[in-house]
Amino acid sequence: MTFGLKRSSGALDAQDPGLPDESDAGTAQGAARDAAAKPREAAAALPSTEHMIRSEAFRVIRASVFSSMNVSAAVLKTRDEVRDGVAQIVADLVERERMNLTLAEQVLMVDELLNDMFGVGPIEPLLADDTVTDILVNGPDHVYVERHGRLELTPVKFRDNAHVVNIAQRIASAIGRRVDESSPMVDARLADGSRVNVVLPPLAVHGACIAIRKFSRRNITLARMAQQANMSNEMARVLKIAATSRLNILISGGTGSGKTTLLNAMSHFIDERERVITIEDAAELQLQQPHVVSLETRPDNSEGTGGVTQRELVRNALRMRPDRIILGETRGAEAFDVLQAMNTGHDGSMTTIHANSPRDAISRLESMVMMANGNLPLVSIRRQIASAVHMIVQVERMRDGVRRVTRISEIAGMEGDVITTQDLFVFRYDTTTYNDEVKGVFECLSIRPVCAGRAAYYGLEEALMEAIRQ
Ligand SMILES: Nc1ncnc2c1ncn2[C@@H]1O[C@H](COP(=O)(O)OP(=O)(O)OP(=O)(O)O)[C@@H](O)[C@H]1O
Ligand SMILES: [Mg+2]
Repeated sequence: MTFGLKRSSGALDAQDPGLPDESDAGTAQGAARDAAAKPREAAAALPSTEHMIRSEAFRVIRASVFSSMNVSAAVLKTRDEVRDGVAQIVADLVERERMNLTLAEQVLMVDELLNDMFGVGPIEPLLADDTVTDILVNGPDHVYVERHGRLELTPVKFRDNAHVVNIAQRIASAIGRRVDESSPMVDARLADGSRVNVVLPPLAVHGACIAIRKFSRRNITLARMAQQANMSNEMARVLKIAATSRLNILISGGTGSGKTTLLNAMSHFIDERERVITIEDAAELQLQQPHVVSLETRPDNSEGTGGVTQRELVRNALRMRPDRIILGETRGAEAFDVLQAMNTGHDGSMTTIHANSPRDAISRLESMVMMANGNLPLVSIRRQIASAVHMIVQVERMRDGVRRVTRISEIAGMEGDVITTQDLFVFRYDTTTYNDEVKGVFECLSIRPVCAGRAAYYGLEEALMEAIRQ
């Protein structure tokens, strides 16, 4: 039996991602060495595993390893403890069957087997790659990643659809959830905190889909955002003052635009003496304060009972003597309760909302409250919003892949039955640039902020006016 590893071109080719380069056999050793030397570039070594995982040799070795060891007992040990045993089985088999495999190829195979036993299979190296922020598996053949704000097709492949389903089931069962034909959609989490969503066929027409938002190990602070031109220094200063002076803040943006990251960054300025309660579907926030209570929703069990919604958690949180409530994302009936909380002394509350502009965020909030409480007339909903929410921060992932704070608006009050807003900062892009380039300036509108009064209460008015004047 022979087995030669092939390498596809290093650059990812969207048209023909898996095209093997026949002339390049035997470069796996180099690739493996690189992967070991530079974990960040592990993805570059992946083209070689792409073919291996579907090769006859790997199928035989895998079957032999899985039949000759007690896998359920093995997974109770650590990966390193099991590695030697697996490597030995592989080496014996290669010798016995006279397989044409180099040592480096065997190392790759052992890694792949360990990934299957302990990790998330072939996407394990992508999880280890710090430049990857999202991993999107669309069936066994198409695995995309997001790097630097942009999507790329990777050469990673699963053996077949059953392999993807198997990995998805392992992820779900690790946190006591089930994903199968009867419940084909599930939200889960990896041990490192990464957020996972799974959709199985037949709902996912072209094979099982897994979407992973990787837990960010990097701590992206406001200062860092200003440094990497996600906002101006003045904007960072104003947001810091807004969080310190306990404004109620909505962070609005599209999916993956950086809302949770900004919320996290702003939460650094919450006073350590405050009791903070966070409410999320999947705990993502990483608050640094010592006194934080994190609550997480729970879906219904297989009998369709036992679920706990965000709304119930918000209501319960109010009975837990919170100084602030941080709601990961407002997306339904809990909007009503959050507004009430903001209006009844729990100021300094923050949340995110999916919307394309601050105006849009307000109308989404209106409709959420309306759905939660159909009897309230629109004008009183608006009045509630106008008195509850102080600031709306709009974030956007722009076409150059950079996430920017495109607007900081304040709610100024009501004029008749309309909520009035005023912009403090706006990102104005240069309309002459095109393609992937985005140029522009963060413009400060130099008006006296409505929140100046609140900032004064915390001794921050001067600092606020200074940030606005510059
Ligand atoms: N300013 C930034 N600089 C670099 N990376 C960022 C920045 N903001 C966000 N990211 C990265 O982008 C990804 C998406 O960010 P985040 O989870 O905050 O988005 P989101 O708007 O909350 O998404 P969702 O709508 O899915 O909840 C994360 O991996 C995060 O690390
Ligand atoms: Mg989020």
